Amino acid sequence: MRAATVVSFSDTDPLSGLRIADIEPGAAPDGWRWVKVKAASLNHHDLWSLRGVGLRAEQLPMVLGCDAAGIDEETGDEVIVHSVIADPSATGDETTDPHRSLLSEKHPGTFAQRVAVPARNLVPKPAWLSWNEAACLPVAWLTAYRMLQTKSGLKPGETVLIQGATGGVASAAIALAQAAGYTVWATSRTPQGREFAKTLGADEVFEPGARLPARVDAVIETVGDATWSHSLKSLKPGGTVVISGATSGANPPADLARVFFLQLSIKGSTMGTREELLGLLDLLHSSGARPHVSMCVELGDAACAFQAMHEGTLLGKAVLQID
Ligand SMILES: NC(=O)c1ccc[n+]([C@@H]2O[C@H](COP(=O)([O-])OP(=O)(O)OC[C@H]3O[C@@H](n4cnc5c(N)ncnc54)[C@H](OP(=O)(O)O)[C@@H]3O)[C@@H](O)[C@H]2O)c1
Repeated sequence: MRAATVVSFSDTDPLSGLRIADIEPGAAPDGWRWVKVKAASLNHHDLWSLRGVGLRAEQLPMVLGCDAAGIDEETGDEVIVHSVIADPSATGDETTDPHRSLLSEKHPGTFAQRVAVPARNLVPKPAWLSWNEAACLPVAWLTAYRMLQTKSGLKPGETVLIQGATGGVASAAIALAQAAGYTVWATSRTPQGREFAKTLGADEVFEPGARLPARVDAVIETVGDATWSHSLKSLKPGGTVVISGATSGANPPADLARVFFLQLSIKGSTMGTREELLGLLDLLHSSGARPHVSMCVELGDAACAFQAMHEGTLLGKAVLQID
């Protein structure tokens, strides 16, 4: 089968390790099902994999891709793949299982014509979602949903600041925060990014680090070093920053005095549970919010989408269409 794989790691030139190749699908473990992949979206995780984060050289080549929508080969049902692979014996919140992994970390990923996943990781795809839209949900949109709905403590009418608006998680957070009835402020490095944030539903947009008209109840952080100090300074006393990523670096100044004097909460968040994926589908259905796909390419042209993400020019999500 055709697949997009990582064959070598490079921190400075990650695309040099990307290969589109024909590979033999391995055997699926007991209780796993094969999905014929229709669409899979790109996440920053895939760039980290090309840099060698979370993978060892002896695992190469590894099929990339964490999320997908496709057809369950056993039943013919249209499905969305929940990407958090928990230990079969784990119960409760899959994201806190110490043995969990994402597709493409231990098991081959979704940028392929077929992917094997545990049966419990299949969620029915509603007919009102397109393949492209469905492919954006399991990583970026689910992560944003958990950050806002489970972690932030926000109530309708409160104000949230979302840093790095054009990112996959951040752009999902803008749309979901708007759907949930929060006042949404967003930052982006470029004028195009700030315009894009407005089209997604941001009430006000700012340059990174800008002085805001008022302090906010919560901040959604995925950028890290470049925005962390601004995130802490932007919070009201008692406010919460929810962080799920650190694209620009993970060692910002701690600013501990601000954290304890203003009684700020810092909450880490990772992916989301199967239940939260179902909750996300409910919110999309009731609100009409949908993922924005700005780039859609065939699997063989995956490098174009990786390049746009690497350069930071991607607005929202890129989807690979797979036959
Ligand atoms: N913990 C989890 O479960 C989880 C899940 C998903 C993602 N993540 C992590 O969250 C981060 C975002 O993921 P994503 O898929 O949304 O990535 P992405 O689509 O590539 O978005 C990254 C965004 O960060 C913003 N940014 C601002 N300043 C930056 C700087 N100095 N350098 C680089 N980027 C900067 C950019 O937005 P502007 O250009 O608009 O400013 C950029 O678009 C990644 O680090 C990823 O690994 C974690």
